[in-house]
Amino acid sequence: MLRSHTCGELRKSQVGQRVTLCGWADTVRDHGGIIFIDLRDRYGLTQVIFDPHDSLEAKTTAESARGEFVIMTEGVVENRPADMVNSKLPTGEIEVRCNKIKILNKAKTPPFPLDDEKADKVAEDLRLTYRYLDLRRPKMQRNLVMRHNILHAVRKYCDQENFTEIETPILTKSTPEGARDYLVPSRVNPGTFYALPQAPQQYKQLLMMSGMDRYLQIARCFRDEDLRADRQPEFTQIDIEMSFITQEDIFRIIDGMIAEIFKVAGHGEITLPIARMPYEIAMNKYGIDKPDLRFGFELTELSDVFAKTQFRVFSRVIEQGGVVKAINAKGLANVSAGIIDDWTATAKEAGLGGLAFIRVQPDQWKSPIVKFFSDAEKAALSERLKIETGDLILFAADKRDTANVALGRIRLAAAAEAKCIPQNVFKLTWVTDFPLFEKGADGSLASMHHPFTSPNLDDVPLLDTDPAKVRAQAYDIVLNGTELGGGSIRIHDPDLQAKMFKLLGIGEAEIEDRFGHLIRALGFGTPPHGGIALGVDRLVMLMVGEDSIRDVIAFPKTQKAQDMMMAAPAKVDAKQLREIFIQLDLPKAE
Ligand code: AMO
Ligand code: AMP
Repeated sequence: MLRSHTCGELRKSQVGQRVTLCGWADTVRDHGGIIFIDLRDRYGLTQVIFDPHDSLEAKTTAESARGEFVIMTEGVVENRPADMVNSKLPTGEIEVRCNKIKILNKAKTPPFPLDDEKADKVAEDLRLTYRYLDLRRPKMQRNLVMRHNILHAVRKYCDQENFTEIETPILTKSTPEGARDYLVPSRVNPGTFYALPQAPQQYKQLLMMSGMDRYLQIARCFRDEDLRADRQPEFTQIDIEMSFITQEDIFRIIDGMIAEIFKVAGHGEITLPIARMPYEIAMNKYGIDKPDLRFGFELTELSDVFAKTQFRVFSRVIEQGGVVKAINAKGLANVSAGIIDDWTATAKEAGLGGLAFIRVQPDQWKSPIVKFFSDAEKAALSERLKIETGDLILFAADKRDTANVALGRIRLAAAAEAKCIPQNVFKLTWVTDFPLFEKGADGSLASMHHPFTSPNLDDVPLLDTDPAKVRAQAYDIVLNGTELGGGSIRIHDPDLQAKMFKLLGIGEAEIEDRFGHLIRALGFGTPPHGGIALGVDRLVMLMVGEDSIRDVIAFPKTQKAQDMMMAAPAKVDAKQLREIFIQLDLPKAE
């Protein structure tokens, strides 16, 4: 070892010991001819000092060091003078008086400051181009260590619960999770392609058919989709599958796992079992299937209040079977007209005709629409929404789904505006009883989760008559408005699985081509089974309080799916393309 201790280790108890430290020069300062270096490594920071009276040579070398030089230094641990103690540093009571120093490596001036606060303001592309420097920051190192600790706890927990960790192929065949596939051409099988797995879904089901009973994988998944703060083209799942179980067993296992994760992340005990909410209630109350339960502003139905109203926008919608709903955005009576315009645009994007509102002022309800309301309507509205001076009431009138989704978005925007979302609060919920299908505008059906999801057995007769009404045995786990994970009980009957593919409009030939293996496997003795996958990146992001999953992934990609540091994706030479029988036919640059 080149060092006797790390830079985070020394305390008063080591005073008098001779030590050797290695690390990066965080800062180099000259105070009256004495050189002070803050030496940094993953474990912390230690102040080392070079006094010309101890060694002129060492002091001269130390003086030549710059930020990010890699240094090995030797000296004696001393108490800091009382007025120099730094109570913010765990090593702040000591310093190391050095008479030997070796510069192990010089460093160019970094292209951005490696200080946590300053670096957070730097353009992210620059940080990602020099990611190895970015990762020197204490915050980034803490994030990566926490990611490790969480995954370690998950493995330990699953091991105790009898799960076997099994790897599944990366070069595989498309599995439908709803995104576009990344394709890999095969050299030895000209004209054919592997797909990178969007998730190990079919493999984990096949492992249940092979009797493995409880499967775990910390699985890398690949999805070619539009990226956001909580979406990467490759990401990691805690992927789970279990045999001879019901939903209750999944909830119990995951509740326990989440409780362990919270403990490891330093967030203490959570109350178990984690609450549950049917999809229908989530949509009606929060307008979204991943409700943020840290604040109110809930969607309130008012269709009965306005059934006979003079305000034609409302009464017409109700006559046509739609609904009138509203939220009470507490304290926002005086938001600017510009903000209301923005929210109106948001509502219109979600399909609403407009966004009616009332500003509740001390002397009046200021609104373009209250003049149409009767006294009885106003009284009922006031009572239902618990209206007080200072409130802003926002209305949506439309088909139920449209009104819910639109108001759900406004609810989130309004809470952000009101700054009423408490930080350091964790609100977990299961969302259960998702519909099995989503209905397209053309009436076609698509899987809400994926086509292996079992319908609620009570609803099977509806598959033929009213498939849109069929509930799935599918569930999501949601934390603070983020979908952490989702899963389902699977279909284990080959006939039902074949029927599902048909309902989804997949033809016989395509069923055989894409899913023949699975349907055949289902016919060889398949146990009832189900599972779930949790997004590791999102989970760690929330546990460490970051806003982007990029801050908890060592080498993430940009919004344009680029690795800035490696400069990937990149062109390849013609020979490589010929070997895999690929000819490029790119659109001409505009
Ligand atoms: P699903 O598609 O819901 O389910 O994914 C499970 C969880 O993975 C995370 N996730 C992502 N994280 C980062 N970037 C992405 N692009 C991304 N996409 C998904 C989310 C999500 O909740 N095979 C099923 C699971 C099952 O049925 O067992 C599946 O993959 O946190
Ligand atoms: P109008 O009669 O179209 O001028 O609308 C009067 C008010 O009702 C305006 O504030 C509109 O934004 C609002 N409004 C119109 N359509 C809807 C709707 N579907 N839901 C809620 N508010 C609406």
